[in-house]
Amino acid sequence: MRKKILGALLSVAMVASLLVGCSGGAASSSSGASGSAESAGGDKGLVGVAMPTKDLQRWNQDGANMKSELEAAGYEVDLQYASNDVATQVSQIENMISAGADVLVVASIDGSSLGTVMSQAKEAGIPVIAYDRLIMDSDAVSYYATFDNYMVGTKQGQYIVDTLDLENAAGPFNMELFTGDPGDNNANFFFGGAMDVLNPYIESGKLVVQSGQKEFADVATANWSSEEAQKRMENILSSYYAGGTQLDVVMCSNDSTALGVTNALAANYTGNYPIITGQDCDIANVKNMIAGKQSMSIFKDTRTLASQVVKMVGQILAKETVEVNDTETYDNGKGVVPSYLCEPVFADVNNYKELLIDSGYYKEADLQ
Ligand code: BGC
Repeated sequence: MRKKILGALLSVAMVASLLVGCSGGAASSSSGASGSAESAGGDKGLVGVAMPTKDLQRWNQDGANMKSELEAAGYEVDLQYASNDVATQVSQIENMISAGADVLVVASIDGSSLGTVMSQAKEAGIPVIAYDRLIMDSDAVSYYATFDNYMVGTKQGQYIVDTLDLENAAGPFNMELFTGDPGDNNANFFFGGAMDVLNPYIESGKLVVQSGQKEFADVATANWSSEEAQKRMENILSSYYAGGTQLDVVMCSNDSTALGVTNALAANYTGNYPIITGQDCDIANVKNMIAGKQSMSIFKDTRTLASQVVKMVGQILAKETVEVNDTETYDNGKGVVPSYLCEPVFADVNNYKELLIDSGYYKEADLQ
């Protein structure tokens, strides 16, 4: 398993250097069917869109973007959210299959728990696009569209290295680690990318994890929950940082975990404020960046991903060649799933206006 992940991470690293974002460097893979070549969006049909939860801002944006873009392209859309409950998501997908969906777009809650319903989709001849998170152990997944998840992690790790000037500074610096849900394949890539950058400094003693919690299983956060992250950070603070020990960095794989960590620090920590990383540019976290309570985030423009998926849907239904740019990295246990990786972008207090406001992603008022 570990070997497999390492292998996957290595190949993603190689592919990462070839990518120039959502619009460039595309190879292609055939949808496996021949026939008429109507333009994308010309074929009307029913698209089932299964999203994990409304609790996190990003999935609301993803869902809304998918729905409006698909409808504008002439498709009927069945958009469902599953409150992070696997059984609910399974039954929502079953309903989409029986309603005669032409394509399914699925952002899974637990990538390994959809095998049976995926087989049903396959039997019914319905192509499946895994959205943002890979669906594991199933040969029914036709395509995968996501951001370069390994690159998200390396950008977070490199930010820590650069900000602490680890090449030159003597250290040691104290660091704690928070990643995501063990059922989310992305978490392996985020954490793996960050640790590939940070591990040499842990090994040389410049970075010290006082809690000793360094393995994925120790630092995972069920459901990416802010409350879970807050609880774990509170325990770490009282056990390892109570006597005035300085905490220098908290590597958080995303914004919901960063939020929990920030809340724990506000109530329980009086030392110099640590570097905190994140991902998603959620509104609460951008506000924290402006207030100096979170150092950086990763901007994954959900509009770009949605547009790419709408394009994929059109190409699949028109039986055209489907545009992908990675055919090596994402093996779901049944084979490599042809993927389209969009490029994640570094965000902090200096560039958030340009990235988020000028591009129309948020309004200035959203961040006040
Ligand atoms: C997504 C992240 C998100 C996390 C929690 C991951 O699969 O890629 O953007 O922060 O799930 O929802």
